[in-house]
Amino acid sequence: MTDTSIVGNWYNQNVTLEHDRLVKSRIEYSITMRVIKKCLEELATTSDDQIRILDIGGGTGRYAVELAKQGHSVTLSDISQSELDYAAQFASQNGVTLAKIVQVDARQVRDNELLFQHGFYDLVLCMGPMYHLLEESERVSLLESCALMTKPGGFVIAAFVTKYAHLRDLAQKDPKRLKDEREFYTQYFSTGKYTRNSNAIVSHHVDVGEVQGLFNKVQDRKVVDIVLEKLIGCEAFLGGGLAANMDLNDSETYEAWVEVLVRYSTDIHALGASDHIAAVARRINRNNT
Ligand SMILES: C[S@@+](CC[C@H](N)C(=O)[O-])C[C@H]1O[C@@H](n2cnc3c(N)ncnc32)[C@H](O)[C@@H]1O
Repeated sequence: MTDTSIVGNWYNQNVTLEHDRLVKSRIEYSITMRVIKKCLEELATTSDDQIRILDIGGGTGRYAVELAKQGHSVTLSDISQSELDYAAQFASQNGVTLAKIVQVDARQVRDNELLFQHGFYDLVLCMGPMYHLLEESERVSLLESCALMTKPGGFVIAAFVTKYAHLRDLAQKDPKRLKDEREFYTQYFSTGKYTRNSNAIVSHHVDVGEVQGLFNKVQDRKVVDIVLEKLIGCEAFLGGGLAANMDLNDSETYEAWVEVLVRYSTDIHALGASDHIAAVARRINRNNT
């Protein structure tokens, strides 16, 4: 089992760094918001009710607050209490209230009475916890929990970090390590376990192809039916910080880039050029109704 206490402590101590992450990685945010928007538009075609969203591992609320501003009922949860405290302030600064804010290790979400309700949410976001769960059984179980909490017809969006993201970073900052730590990297390639972060937090990185396999494993357990609909490269072909110098104040140029990047974000041949992969999956009823 992953020791998630170190992960939680690190996020507790790096709240503002984490809050600013999606300003620096604006493309990741813009593409992911487009993906979420598309799911919400599809949900709106079948119901006029207020949409209920659960954001697991939602940190300081970058997505949660924006979605609440759009009028949705958003519940935020995370392992880091300090991030959630920050999110509460961020929500109030933006004039919105989140439906609930709940501190929980995502692995224990099924035991959490405040959060866990069968088929309750229209959309469940899980964009963070998968990055730090070392065991496949933990990732499969969490995906299953997300699916169980989603209404039939609703969506789960789960995000993953690719091995290429780490390797791009390594190639730029410290290429010798690949040779000097050959044994470690042999293991890394087969398991995706990255346990040599300088801050001691552990990470799991995927091969793009393994995401479909995770959903297959959820399906094999026959507890809930969830079908992977598409994979999206959250930075499209500009992973590895290639968009870092884009001027956010020049909104026309920025939006022109976002249009192009969104177009290529679903190109399966370019998925490895992204650092983050979002998997969009849909819960279906066992009898397909
Ligand atoms: C890189 S941040 C992503 C935050 C936000 N969802 C986003 O996409 O920008 C990862 C988040 O996952 C949370 N997290 C990591 N492991 C978790 C776990 N086992 N249970 C709940 N939250 C977890 C962290 O505390 C952190 O807020």
